[in-house]
Amino acid sequence: MSLDQSLDKILIIDFGSQFTQLIARRIRELGVFSEIVSHKKINAKYINNSIKGIVLSGGPLNVNQKNKFSFDKKILKLNIPILGICFGHQILSKLNGGTVKQSKHREFGLANIHKKKDSLLINKFFSNKKIKKVWMSHADQVSKLPRNFKVIASSANSKFAIVENNIKNYYGVQFHPEVTHTEDGKKIISNFIFLICKIKKNWSSKDQKKQLIKDIKNTVGNNKVICALSGGVDSSVVAQLLNKAIGKKLYCIFVNTGLLRKNEEIQVVQTFKKRLRINLISVNAEKEFLKKLKNVSDPEKKRKIIGKLFIKIFERYAKKIKNVKFLAQGTLYPDLIESKSVTGSQTSKIKSHHNVGGLPKKMNLKLVEPLKFLFKDEVRKLGLELNLSKEIISRHPFPGPGLAIRIPGIITNEKIKILKEADYYFIRALKENNLYHKIWQAYAALLPVKTVGVMGDNRTYEYLCLLRAITSEDGMTADYYDFKKSFMQTISNKIVNSIRGINRVVYDVSSKPPSTIELE
Ligand code: XMP
Repeated sequence: MSLDQSLDKILIIDFGSQFTQLIARRIRELGVFSEIVSHKKINAKYINNSIKGIVLSGGPLNVNQKNKFSFDKKILKLNIPILGICFGHQILSKLNGGTVKQSKHREFGLANIHKKKDSLLINKFFSNKKIKKVWMSHADQVSKLPRNFKVIASSANSKFAIVENNIKNYYGVQFHPEVTHTEDGKKIISNFIFLICKIKKNWSSKDQKKQLIKDIKNTVGNNKVICALSGGVDSSVVAQLLNKAIGKKLYCIFVNTGLLRKNEEIQVVQTFKKRLRINLISVNAEKEFLKKLKNVSDPEKKRKIIGKLFIKIFERYAKKIKNVKFLAQGTLYPDLIESKSVTGSQTSKIKSHHNVGGLPKKMNLKLVEPLKFLFKDEVRKLGLELNLSKEIISRHPFPGPGLAIRIPGIITNEKIKILKEADYYFIRALKENNLYHKIWQAYAALLPVKTVGVMGDNRTYEYLCLLRAITSEDGMTADYYDFKKSFMQTISNKIVNSIRGINRVVYDVSSKPPSTIELE
């Protein structure tokens, strides 16, 4: 049995809401496993005893356009509690004989709802004032409730803001309890899963660790597994999980492309080979990468060259380990959902991350993807549970092509050396000033221009160093971090005074969009 089959769970049927993943995360934060499945893929046959409750997500659809969505009505006969959110609430009403119409007043943003009646769903949700602020986002609404449904709360524009049919255990909310703008929204979700579905907590990093190690042992048996280790969070957690599960049958390959951060190779070898005693093949391929990148300035060409060469080197070393059957990969749950293969591992796409793209096809390896049901924050917690250091677990993201895309234009050994130093001083200063963890990602880049400076009595003509530090939730949007002037002054001085080759430092104050996080 694998993690997705053996655990009791709340199933979220996704109708395309931008918040579906948030629903899953809220449930998991409450200590219960939850899984997302697209409305297009689910039918009553899929639902087994492990599913203790169903959430119908919101979505951009209209319940009266039946050909636009699918829902197997047999699911309603399974005697499993259902919570419909926004569109999910409308579909639940519609399928039970209610009606849904375009709202006279569309509601987007905060609205007050008023309590009308007690319900398990709102246990300890309303304060004495019987009013709560919730976040709405809908143009349609339920206009007539089905038989046996009662109103629990209303807003000025949505009479049926919270409804229930307590005979069948159906609940509907027109607003979004999963978003943080809804005051105490998590209480609604908690009441649904614990008081109504009566599911028990089963989702802590400790539970995950035990179950995943068991799963890996069952899948892999006595076979050998290889893993591309980059030193980043995901591959580090995968390596350590496999290490705990199969020990010396795991072989990690670390490729130093020469485009990594200062001391990266030493740190990876120290941690994984010396401290965790993992079989680690550390390949120094700096010269090979630099040779291939000579005179290349186009960013996409750089990416392709690095990706291809990485695979070539990985394959070269993987072949030296005889009888390998599996390739371990750090695919995460959002990758799986995005590749639309939520229901099974067979179809799961190989992450487009250059490190491993294309490997299994050529090498005929089966995939082991132990993190494929976890979100990033869960991976971090699991890493701590596996005794990985906080330093590894909370590292900033680092792009696969590494420093190559932080040196716009042609890459030379000299530029790489200068940039590694600048980045090192910047990141060290962030850590020393307790800023590192307030920032989502930070780096130094070396711009392909030289400017004039004056040092002592001499004129200099050296490179321009750009510093970038951003705050973000997920890398999709970003704001620049607002440093104090004294920090900027100190780091600028440190870089210019310590590194030959840089005589000017600039700070990137653009946000994403319209800019991107990386320069290339
Ligand atoms: P952008 O520059 O697109 O970056 O705003 C968003 C996030 O993705 C990382 N990034 C990459 N990661 N290979 C990677 O593995 C790449 O080619 C690549 N390009 C950008 C970037 O560091 C940021 O975290």
